[in-house]
Amino acid sequence: MSKVPVRLSVNGRVHELDVEPRLLLVHLLRDQLGLTGTHVGCDTSNCGACTVHLDGEAVKSCTVLAVQADGTKVTTIEGLAQGDQLHPLQEAFWEHHGLQCGYCTPGMIMSAADLLARNPHPSEAEIRTGLEGNLCRCTGYHNIVKAVAAAAEHPHAGEIDHPGPTPEGAAVGRAVASEGAGA
Ligand code: FES
Ligand code: FES
Repeated sequence: MSKVPVRLSVNGRVHELDVEPRLLLVHLLRDQLGLTGTHVGCDTSNCGACTVHLDGEAVKSCTVLAVQADGTKVTTIEGLAQGDQLHPLQEAFWEHHGLQCGYCTPGMIMSAADLLARNPHPSEAEIRTGLEGNLCRCTGYHNIVKAVAAAAEHPHAGEIDHPGPTPEGAAVGRAVASEGAGA
């Protein structure tokens, strides 16, 4: 199958790759860029484990073709922390035990970050509604909701376009440039 050139920024680093037209964004991130924090939990667009930010908005990356991400800025869970400084949502999930097996957690956090960017002080009902596209098999959701509510107290919890550092050697393909914060 002939390949198509794609250029996109992931966590502040620009990549140029040739991809099959049928390749999903989640597989580009995991298999070609090595960003395995974005999970695949279903093949029905239901679970939300694959949630990333595309141009600042949460999307299920199993529903986006890699070619559709051409020219966009993507943030994955690996892009939230700044060096050793976890994002407030990551801290809150840790503090409030918002996970058990952790499989859903990257997607939960990326969706929660999108929610807090749009609604910095959500009610419990609004948190539950905001996360309804993300499924968790372990926690019963109570501590996840508590964690998001706690993170909302932090002034920077809603900063969703937060690329952070790019780990050396994480990228495959042609990494051509680094963009600054906000990329
Ligand atoms: S893997 Fe994308 S919604 Fe489940
Ligand atoms: S913590 Fe296990 S699926 Fe959510």
